[in-house]
Amino acid sequence: MSPNRPEYEDACATAQRPAHASASQPLTLKVNGKLTTVDVDPRTTLLDVLRERLALTGTKKGCDHGQCGACTVHVDGRRVNACLSFALMHDGAEITTIEGLGTPADLHPMQAAFVEHDAYQCGYCTSGQIMSAVALANEPCGGSNAEIKEAMSGNICRCGAYSNILAAIQQTRKA
Ligand code: FES
Ligand code: FES
Repeated sequence: MSPNRPEYEDACATAQRPAHASASQPLTLKVNGKLTTVDVDPRTTLLDVLRERLALTGTKKGCDHGQCGACTVHVDGRRVNACLSFALMHDGAEITTIEGLGTPADLHPMQAAFVEHDAYQCGYCTSGQIMSAVALANEPCGGSNAEIKEAMSGNICRCGAYSNILAAIQQTRKA
């Protein structure tokens, strides 16, 4: 049988597709303090659950490949690239997104520092930068500019607001 015949291609496609690949499974998360349960395809990333199912679009999709940090959220207090994580891996976990950090009327100190230091231009990377910067406070990171830059190196800013971001982080560390 020729490998190019349609029957052959159909057979291959069927063979490569796991029988239950798309069977939805229940997922329970505590998101920004609120328990929520959704049925998800096991292949769905945490990022897509947050943005597409829970309408929490403050968390951004930049590269969708773990390279930019725009999708950074906290999972049980630790920063995670939500695009690299299957949602079901976090069943029962506590998730914090930028929407759960502060409110326009009551900003988290890191959000206020970003505003004060003008630490953004287009803003697309900003929620990821802030979530990373907040998590950094609980990590073994020294206080020098070089150490903070290294610890924040997974968050890319295409606008190049790095010096302002660093200034904002340094302000909160000194506060
Ligand atoms: Fe997740 Fe870029 S969107 S790292
Ligand atoms: Fe535009 Fe960072 S502010 S990518």
